[in-house]
Amino acid sequence: MFPAIRMNTNESHSHKTSTPCVMVIFGASGHLARRKLIPALYALERRGLLEEHFSIVGFARTPNVTARFRKEMADAVSEASSSGRLDAALWQRFSSRLHYVTGEYDQVESCRRLHEFLAGADCGCARGRILYYMALPPRAVEPTLRTLYDSRCIPWHKGASAPRLMIEKPFGWDAASACRLNRLLARMLPESQIYRIDHYLAKDTVRNLLVLRFANAIFEPLWNCAHVDSVQLTAAEDVGVEGRGAYYDEAGVVRDYVQNHVLQVLALAAMERPESADAQALSDRKLEFFESIAPVRRGDFVFGQYRGYTREPHVAARSRTPTFLALRLRVNNRRWKGVPFYVRAGKRLPRKVTEITIQFKTAPTCVFDGRALCGHAPNALSIRIQPAEGMRLSFSTKAPGLDDELRRANLDFRYSQLGAELPEAYEKVLLDGIRGHPGLFWQADELSRATGFGLECTRFWTGCEI
Ligand code: BG6
Repeated sequence: MFPAIRMNTNESHSHKTSTPCVMVIFGASGHLARRKLIPALYALERRGLLEEHFSIVGFARTPNVTARFRKEMADAVSEASSSGRLDAALWQRFSSRLHYVTGEYDQVESCRRLHEFLAGADCGCARGRILYYMALPPRAVEPTLRTLYDSRCIPWHKGASAPRLMIEKPFGWDAASACRLNRLLARMLPESQIYRIDHYLAKDTVRNLLVLRFANAIFEPLWNCAHVDSVQLTAAEDVGVEGRGAYYDEAGVVRDYVQNHVLQVLALAAMERPESADAQALSDRKLEFFESIAPVRRGDFVFGQYRGYTREPHVAARSRTPTFLALRLRVNNRRWKGVPFYVRAGKRLPRKVTEITIQFKTAPTCVFDGRALCGHAPNALSIRIQPAEGMRLSFSTKAPGLDDELRRANLDFRYSQLGAELPEAYEKVLLDGIRGHPGLFWQADELSRATGFGLECTRFWTGCEI
């Protein structure tokens, strides 16, 4: 069993009392709400994990009304489900939780209307905890939070019903805005109520990196520069920007994917052993890992852009934003001295695969003298994060027959063999946000380091040949 990655706070043990009575999704008319959040909330309903009096209020600029919002979300949930169908009774129960309020993010008046609605009869959350979810483009987050703060309609207190805030990446759009946002948040809420989301941390296969390394005795002794030749992370997507051209053209692959998802996966795969699996211990180790990444140099990068990118809606016709990156990292610590970390990440690649491979060194001595058998393909452990989630260990074996020949063979493990479906990452993100389990979220100092790293990388993209 996977050990719960939870902070040892009283709150995490008493989630019933700290459970919010309403979740407000800012940006409810957008791609994320439709593709991920609402389908994941519906899945939580199916699992019986939503409290009876829990409402979901969509808030966005696009004019809409609750009835139509429900209808649109029914379509979204059907599209997201493998069968394409909805369970009528379940949908009935779930959709009665859904409401919609139209408003401007940066207008106090809209904010007041929203809170009147939250306290009113339809929603009935006058004094309970409110969970705010920022599913907004990076530039809209700061004005929205300022408006929330200035409107004074929210109880910005630290008690048991202090509001909780979940924020999607990227956090700010440059180092200065990320800093400003952190300062604003620190004024608004206790750090324990701020959940900076990276949905990769909620993927079972990413969380399993910790189990693999620290719940087994056989891997950790080999997990260092004496035995490992390189670490390779491939994160290939077959999709393009999927209608998010305006956002993506500013973020590019670095800020959309590398400075968050890639760094988190690498950190879990390569950090030192944490004292425990609680949020602070994990965060300390991850931060230590980020800090040991050596400064990147021009020769460490290759950037690319997929054909047709500049014809995507809302992408500048002469955009030079990279949608692909290959990167070599060096990690300045004792464990990884001299071991290159290779990262490849991008969109519109031939197939979707996210995989991390630990490439081991060739066997140090050879008993098969003078033959090509020595130095035969070294061992590799590939951890498949998605799809076809699982793990493969490649090794050499004697080929059957009278001659001494070696063959490559694999030990394969597929999650599907365990007989249960892997949950969608957003189910875990949302459930932890609702219950107040902060272990899977970024902490502020990790984020500053990652933003700094992203900035270093983007410096090299400016002016490079794509
Ligand atoms: C998001 C990025 O964070 O992750 C998207 O903004 C990307 O551009 C997505 O497509 C990938 O997530 P997943 O879970 O499909 O690998």
